[in-house]
Amino acid sequence: MTKTIAASVVLLGALFSSLTYALNPITIKGTKFFDSVTKDQFFIKGVAYQPRTLHSEVIDPLAKPADCKRDFELMKALGLNTIRVYQVDNRQNHDECMKLMEAAGIYLLLDVVAPKYSIVRTNPEYDLNTWSNVKGTLDAFKGYSNVLGFFVGNEVTNDNKTTVASAYVKALLRDTKNYLASASSRKIPVGYANNDDPDIRLQIQAYFNCGPDNERIDFFGINLYEWCGTSVTYQTSGYADRSKEIEGYSIPVFLSEFGCNAIMPRTFPEVKSILGPDMTDLWSGGIVYEWSQEDNNYGLVKINPDNSVSTLPDYANLKSVLAPLKPVGVKMDAYSATNKASTCPALTPMWEPNAKLPPMPSAGACDCMMSSLSCVASDQAVVTTESLGTLLNTICGMTSCDDISSNGKAGVYGRYSSCLPSQKLSYMYNKYYAIAGKKEPTFCSFNGMAKLSTASKPTDEGCSDVKDAIMVAPAETYKSSQAPYSFSPFLVSSTSSTALAMVMGGLLI
Ligand SMILES: *[C@@H]1O[C@H](CO)[C@@H](O)[C@H](O)[C@H]1NC(C)=O
Repeated sequence: MTKTIAASVVLLGALFSSLTYALNPITIKGTKFFDSVTKDQFFIKGVAYQPRTLHSEVIDPLAKPADCKRDFELMKALGLNTIRVYQVDNRQNHDECMKLMEAAGIYLLLDVVAPKYSIVRTNPEYDLNTWSNVKGTLDAFKGYSNVLGFFVGNEVTNDNKTTVASAYVKALLRDTKNYLASASSRKIPVGYANNDDPDIRLQIQAYFNCGPDNERIDFFGINLYEWCGTSVTYQTSGYADRSKEIEGYSIPVFLSEFGCNAIMPRTFPEVKSILGPDMTDLWSGGIVYEWSQEDNNYGLVKINPDNSVSTLPDYANLKSVLAPLKPVGVKMDAYSATNKASTCPALTPMWEPNAKLPPMPSAGACDCMMSSLSCVASDQAVVTTESLGTLLNTICGMTSCDDISSNGKAGVYGRYSSCLPSQKLSYMYNKYYAIAGKKEPTFCSFNGMAKLSTASKPTDEGCSDVKDAIMVAPAETYKSSQAPYSFSPFLVSSTSSTALAMVMGGLLI
């Protein structure tokens, strides 16, 4: 019977040609993860996996089967059961790597945003670009039974100046949960990975676990780098204090990154606490940062220029502490979950996200609006994606941009604030043109960045009420002629570097 359940989940995924090594899906009850078939508690023995030094741009570590094979076997030998991947390209095929991962007994925690499609902490927006790319990633991975969960954000709010960004992440969380509820037969957990800023860590912990069911995370990760070297202990490192802070929390918590490298080589004394009696009551394991040696010097292995791999001292050190640790925990049926969801944190000058969240981006609303415009951004404006921000700034200096702007502190979201940048620019050019009564073509020029267009609707009335069905076609099939849609997250612009730091953990020392 139990085998049948596992097999049918895999068949629903319809992505495996063989059932030989299907891993049982992991499920959540209360504060713990469980194997949904054996009902044993599941503890994460994980590693962050995002090799990147040998690549110049987009990095999808789950699209190169030879590299997956090379690495997953070594991970299995080390005793790992989970990887965290920060970025994929959802247009690639991942079947082979996911199969190899299963064969190695490894689960996947996947961050669903990518630098170019993410919420930027200093200037947060949640638009169609981000949402459609996230949907594409959910579609690409929701069928694999060894997906342990999705992260909707990593350290987005990371200090007391960037708290408003959390309202945007929570909107993405809501839409991700609603989408998965209708698009996936299995309940795949969705979580958030926090940084460890003393000013706001408690607010973030509560914020993402408060409110309606579909606006709450299913698990919480803390990127924790407080334990450095062997001269501190569980009690003195700060780990014990963090444990106190999650007593009474209602969902699983784990270390979504750990492994301070201030003292090298690392001997990982904290692992004995993470996977031992100190922490297994309250925590569900952790993820070592990180697999490959990169500029920031956290590697367990080195990927050589010929694409072979050499283990570094940290690999053997981690292996030796991990090997004897086999936490058992509780059985799912013997465990009853009693903790309640959190109370939303009070608004203060240090915690400012409005309870009113941004709306789900609607392609229908934006397309409807576009069809009402007589003046739009020209191809020249649209092609030069990087300059769209500059062009928008210029026009917003000439007339109010309220309709395309959002304010997560005030909880005010302009009716086209989640449209694509090129659509916003078109809307504004048309607005300016309309000020002149739409009779003077020179008002639709902007040095060639604007051009006249034939409107198929007399006004945009009603457009902002158009909502996309949550299960519209998969994200990849959304095509707008206006969409600047190249996938190259590691290229371009100041926002990308912010977003990159955000995605990669903000620990690029
Ligand atoms: C906000 O954070 C900064 C930097 O960590 C800190 O110096 C400042 O005191 C904080 N503000 C408040 C009101 O605590």
